[in-house]
Amino acid sequence: MKGIIVGGGIIGLSIARELNKLGYEITILEKNLLGRGASWAAGGMLAPQAEGLTGDFLNFSVESREMYKEFVQQIEKETGYEVSYYECGIVCPAFSEKEMENLFKRVDYYNKLGLESKILTRQEILDMGIKISNFVIGGAFFPHDKQVDNRKLVVSLVKYAKNSNITVKELTEVKFIEVNNGIFQRVVTNNGTFEADFCVLAAGAWSGELEPIKVFPIKGQMLSFKTKIKNEISKILYSSRAYIIPRKDSNLVVVGATQENVFFKEGNTVSGIFLLLKGLLETLPSTKDYEITETWYGFRPATPDGLPILGKSEIKNLYYATGHYRNGILLAPITAKLITQLIHKGEESPYLKMFDFSRFYIKEE
Ligand code: FAD
Ligand code: GLY
Repeated sequence: MKGIIVGGGIIGLSIARELNKLGYEITILEKNLLGRGASWAAGGMLAPQAEGLTGDFLNFSVESREMYKEFVQQIEKETGYEVSYYECGIVCPAFSEKEMENLFKRVDYYNKLGLESKILTRQEILDMGIKISNFVIGGAFFPHDKQVDNRKLVVSLVKYAKNSNITVKELTEVKFIEVNNGIFQRVVTNNGTFEADFCVLAAGAWSGELEPIKVFPIKGQMLSFKTKIKNEISKILYSSRAYIIPRKDSNLVVVGATQENVFFKEGNTVSGIFLLLKGLLETLPSTKDYEITETWYGFRPATPDGLPILGKSEIKNLYYATGHYRNGILLAPITAKLITQLIHKGEESPYLKMFDFSRFYIKEE
C-alpha cells in the first residue's frame, strides 16, 4: 500500500519510519530540506512537568516521554548515529513568592499522580552545583523530565529515511490535496503529481495552508553559547524568564525561547535576543563572558487550545498529524505509534478523540 506524507519534520519522519517498518511504500514530500522547520529550531526538552501540562494531555505526554529511551535506542541502532538523549532532569527556578507558590501547587499535583517532583530551597539548587543568581529564591525539580538533541535526532531520522526504501522528495511543495467523492486521490506539487492510497498531513505550522484546520504559527527565537568546560551546567533550568539547556556531549548550551504571535515573520530581532540574554543573565550571571555561537528562530505549529490535531479528517484516507505546538519533539514517538495503528489496523486510540480536528467547529444539529 502506498502512502504520502506531507512535511518532513520530526512528525512526518517518525510516522514514515513506523509505516516503512510495516512494509508500506512511503513518499515524503518536503517543500524545503527535511527536518529544517520547527524540529530543527526546537530545544529538545522532553518536559511535560516543566511545561506544566495537566489532565489527559499530561498522561499522553508522559506516555511519550516514557517511550523515548527505546525510541532513540532503536533509531541509533538502525542508523549508527548517536542522538545525545540525556536524562538530566529539569530544575525550575522561582524569582518571586508568587512563582514559588505556583511551584508548590504543581509539585503537589504531580506527586499525587505519582510523577516524582520536589521543591528545592535556594541552597539546594546551589548544592547541585548550579551557580544561580541572587534573584532566585528557590525552585522545583522534575527528575524525569529530560532532553534529546533534536537536531541530531532529526539527522538520524533523515538518515533512516534515505537509507530505507522511503522515497524522499525535497524542494517539493504540495500545492493542493485532491479529493474525489470524499476520498483522497493525489497531491499536486511544484514538482509533479503524486498518487497514493492515503496521505498524512504533517506540515507543522503550515498545515492550515493546505486544509481547513486551525493551525497557526507561534514564533520562537533561540540562541546558543559555549561554556568553558563540558557539563558545567548539570541540569536544564526552566523558568518564566528563559530556559537553559546544556547539551550532553559538548559545552554547547541552548537558550530559549520567545513566544510571538507575528505570523511567519522571519528573522531574529534585537528585542527577542535581548529577552533571552536578560533571562540567561538573571538566572546564571557567571555566563556573561561566554561566546554566543548561534541565533535562530522557528515556528511552532499552534492550535486554539494548545493541543495537537491527530487522526482522521473528513476525507477518507487523509489523516492529520499536526499542531504539536510546544511539545512536538516530546510527542513524536506516541504520534507515530497512534497514527500508524490508525492507518494499519483502523485502531483508534481514545486519545485521538481528544485531538480530533472537529473540536474547533460548531456542530450543526
Ligand atoms: P516541522 O518540523 O516544522 O516540520 C513541518 C515540515 O513541513 C517543514 O519541514 C516544512 O517545510 C514542511 N512543509 C510545510 N508545508 C509544506 C508543503 N505545502 N509541502 C511540503 N512540505 C511542507 N518541542 C518539544 O517537545 N520540546 C522543546 O524543547 C521544544 N522547543 C521548541 C522551541 C522552539 C523555538 C520552537 C519553534 C519549537 C519548539 N518545540 C519543542 C516544538 C516542536 O519543535 C514542534 O512542535 C515540532 O517540531 C513540530 O514538528 P513538525 O514535524 O510538525 O513540524
Ligand atoms: N517547549 C519549548 C518551546 O516551545 O519553546
